[in-house]
Amino acid sequence: MTEYDPLADLYDLEYTHDYDLPFWLALAERETGPVVEWGAGTGRIAIPLAREGHDVTAVEVSGEMVARGCEKCSAVEWTVGDMREVKLGRRYGLAVCAFNSFLCLLGVEDALAFLSNAREHLEPGGLLGIEVSAFSPEELTDPPGGPTLRHDFTRELPDGRLDRFSVSGYDAASQIMQMRLFYELYDASGKLESRRAHDLEIRIVGHAELELMLRLSGFVVESVYGGFEGEPFESGCDHLIVLARNPPTD
Ligand SMILES: C[S@@+](CC[C@H](N)C(=O)[O-])C[C@H]1O[C@@H](n2cnc3c(N)ncnc32)[C@H](O)[C@@H]1O
Repeated sequence: MTEYDPLADLYDLEYTHDYDLPFWLALAERETGPVVEWGAGTGRIAIPLAREGHDVTAVEVSGEMVARGCEKCSAVEWTVGDMREVKLGRRYGLAVCAFNSFLCLLGVEDALAFLSNAREHLEPGGLLGIEVSAFSPEELTDPPGGPTLRHDFTRELPDGRLDRFSVSGYDAASQIMQMRLFYELYDASGKLESRRAHDLEIRIVGHAELELMLRLSGFVVESVYGGFEGEPFESGCDHLIVLARNPPTD
C-alpha cells in the first residue's frame, strides 16, 4: 500500500482548489506535443488538461488514486507507476510535477532518479514544470513546548462536512516534515460518521537545491516563479515554480 492509498477517497473533498490550472493550461497551449503529469493524484490537473484537448498521460504510484481518476475521466492515459523508474515508451513535449508531488521524494537520490527519468521522457526541447510549496521559517520551527494540534480546514459537503486537524514536525537535518493528519467526517445532522488518522512525510526542498538538482540532471533552468501569475520568487512567496528545459539536440 502506498502513502496515498488510504487518502484516495478523501482527496477530492480535501483539495478543491483550481487557482493553478490556468498556469498549467497556458503552458500546455504554448508548448507542443503530449503532456505527462508525474504524481497526478486523482487527476486534479491532468483531467482539465485532457478536457482542453491535450493528449495527457497521468503517472501515479497509488492504485487507489488512479482508480478514482479513471472513474472521473477516461480521456487521460492513466498509469500506476513510480515516477522514479516507470517507463512509458514515449516522449512528451511538457511534463508537470505539481502540488508537492516532488516533495514526496524523500531523499536526494530519489529526486535525482525522478529528474533523470523525467528527462528521458521529454522530447529534445521539451519542458518540465515543478511546483512545490515554499515554507516560511515559522512553518519549519516548532513552537515553544513542541508541535501542537492545528485545525487545518472545514469543508462543507452536500451531505455533511469534513474537518482536518494536523500535527507536524520538521527535522532540519533530513529536511523531512512529518505530518499526522486527523480527518473527521460528519453527516448532515452534525453526527460524527468516521474519524481516522494518517501519517505523511515530505522532504522540503528550497529554490537553490531544486535548481542545482535540475542542472545536475541535464536540464536548463528557464524560469523561476513565486506564484501562478508569474510573480518573482522571493521571501514570503507561498509557491516555488521552476520551469526547466531538456536541451534541444543540435
Ligand atoms: C499532494 S499529491 C498531488 C497530486 C496532484 N499533482 C495534484 O495536483 O492534485 C502527491 C501525489 O504524488 C503521488 N506520488 C508520491 N510519490 C510518487 C512516486 N514516486 N511516483 C508517482 N507518484 C507519486 C502521491 O501518491 C500523490 O497522489
